[in-house]
Amino acid sequence: MSDLFTTIETPIAKYEQPLGLFINNEFVKGVSGKTFETINPTTEKPITSVYEANEKDVDIAVAAARKAFEGSWSKVTPTERGRMLAKLADLFERDSDILSSIESLDNGKAFVMAKGDVANAAGCLRYYAGYADKIHGQTIDQNSESLTYTRHEPVGVCGQIIPWNFPLLMWSWKIGPAIATGCTVIIKTAEQTPLSGLYAAKLIKEAGFPPGVINIISGFGRVAGAAISSHMDIDKVAFTGSTMVGRTILQAAAKSNLKKVTLELGGKSPNIVFNDADIDNAISWSNFGIFFNHGQCCCAGSRILVQEDIHDQFVARFKERAAKNQLGNPFEMGTFQGPQVSQLQFDRIMEYINHGKQGGATVALGGERHGTEGYFIQPTVFTDVTSDMKIAQEEIFGPVVTIQKFKDEEEAIKIGNDTCYGLAAAVHTKNVNTAIRVSNAIKAGTVWINAYNMISYQAPFGGFKQSGLGRELGSYALENYTQVKTVHYRLGDALFA
Ligand code: NAI
Ligand code: MG
Repeated sequence: MSDLFTTIETPIAKYEQPLGLFINNEFVKGVSGKTFETINPTTEKPITSVYEANEKDVDIAVAAARKAFEGSWSKVTPTERGRMLAKLADLFERDSDILSSIESLDNGKAFVMAKGDVANAAGCLRYYAGYADKIHGQTIDQNSESLTYTRHEPVGVCGQIIPWNFPLLMWSWKIGPAIATGCTVIIKTAEQTPLSGLYAAKLIKEAGFPPGVINIISGFGRVAGAAISSHMDIDKVAFTGSTMVGRTILQAAAKSNLKKVTLELGGKSPNIVFNDADIDNAISWSNFGIFFNHGQCCCAGSRILVQEDIHDQFVARFKERAAKNQLGNPFEMGTFQGPQVSQLQFDRIMEYINHGKQGGATVALGGERHGTEGYFIQPTVFTDVTSDMKIAQEEIFGPVVTIQKFKDEEEAIKIGNDTCYGLAAAVHTKNVNTAIRVSNAIKAGTVWINAYNMISYQAPFGGFKQSGLGRELGSYALENYTQVKTVHYRLGDALFA
């Protein structure tokens, strides 16, 4: 066994884990030879170490992606691109147990949830495979002496920076539309969860992609991430992560080559429950809305707003429901909530919880660490919350929810919009008019009615306000990866002979 691979055994699968950077279809050591550990958040112990990319590695990967973009990849037909992406989707499904168990090991998410992520990642890749040969422009009639048409050309070499909360899903959201449109890619996985992206690199090779089309690097944001966002030969950067880093990326793009930027950032999404809601349904979706993926969702329903008549009943029953969420080892059947991803995230969340306690909110449930090993936090519910509290304004990104009371529709909308974010929202009511009025009035990129967290790769996803720029998924994502060229062809005689 070389030091570029290691054998890993999970309760579900034993497999060969690549450790190198994936550039030009080969696993290589980084230029510096440095490695970093990735931690299993359930045990707090290292799983293995992977090679770390620095600026020079980014240069090498970009050169590979540029060469492929101008050369081999530009000669591959759209149909053939689609076939490769579809094959990649098939391979995701074939190796679903391995990929899912890597997610559970490295990220801490429950195995059944990870299976869902992998199925969705495969679905997303296959969805964009179908688009590969359907990218086209328009012909525009001006007069009998001109032929004018547009071409939707690939934007070029794309840098993609992804987070740790849905490693493979974010990988596929980014790679799907880029590859379908004929771009090439250098993608940086999050330093907390580098393993699944590298295993998927093996599948890229197997799916038949030419060298350099998709390059995958492990590394840190301040080094490899910064090198991507300021690179002079990257045409577009796509980022998912914190609003703070999103700003840095936009600045780096502006200061370097004005590369195009899409950002999918944080949220503080309101989940609004009216007096007339089906309360069982609302409780069930609200529980899923905040506690799914341990609260580590950009669109988490972290602010529940309940109309005053049902507030006390809702709180009592919501607490009962949340207390039933099973915490534990991600590989155990029945586990719903695993550990938070890292010590740092654990500490950040506990700090918010302490802030909430000291700031005058009431801990209705949880509020403490769960167990003694692993980064587990009890499902935590705060009541007696006001909009000016830090816990009602800032993204906590953990299993922590605030519940606020509102009088009427107008107040619900006011509190709902009282945030710098605008990623998602939900409205629970049996009244269709209320549902539509409120969903129109809330400033958010996605609104669910009588549901939560229903995300489909067929529908666009992204943020209003400081939750981001641009839309991912659906046909909308294709616009991020294409640029429009207008061609005027003169049919008649010269105008100024
Ligand atoms: P982060 O924004 O620092 O990390 C996300 C990605 O950006 C990682 O790949 C990281 O390496 C990269 N990155 C970090 N600094 C960079 C830089 N200067 N230039 C280029 N790339 C850089 O997020 P972090 O620290 O992991 O989590 C902090 C908070 O961010 C969370 O508590 C949560 O509020 C938010 N977050 C939101 C996510 C979302 O899905 N929108 C995902 C992850 C975090
Ligand atoms: Mg890890």
